[in-house]
Amino acid sequence: MKTYGLIALLSLCLLPASAFANPAESFAQFCAVCHGVGGAGDGVAAAGLPVKPANFTNTAFWAERTDESVFKAIKEGGAAIGKSPLMAPYKDSMSDEQIKGIVSYLRTLIK
Ligand code: HEC
Repeated sequence: MKTYGLIALLSLCLLPASAFANPAESFAQFCAVCHGVGGAGDGVAAAGLPVKPANFTNTAFWAERTDESVFKAIKEGGAAIGKSPLMAPYKDSMSDEQIKGIVSYLRTLIK
């Protein structure tokens, strides 16, 4: 399966995450490939995914979420909040503080 090969390849590239500078750089490095540079869910890998990555620029997305649920999705993965496991857990590669920083950063992407 082409899609799963791609995901396996992405996982190898993305983990482990080590040198974190700031949330914007972390997002660009680890999330933009799927979620898009501007967070619109249009990253280069998005087209090959059966479930579309979340669009963080969309106010409707945020209307239905809390910081806690978004934090949980990043820390424990999509499956932890009843979403797709294609959204991987980042608990082994990021501290809670780093994840909190990313949650705040994601909110700055709203258009
Ligand atoms: C391999 C592609 C991929 C990567 C890399 C990725 N995501 Fe995702 N993400 C997804 C997909 C696909 C979904 C949609 C899951 C669904 O709707 O079932 C998603 C959903 C989400 C959600 C939404 C959960 C919700 O409430 O609906 C958040 C938040 C999120 N990702 C954050 C991140 C962050 C932050 C990073 C980087 C640390 C990241 N993602 C990296 C694919 C990815």
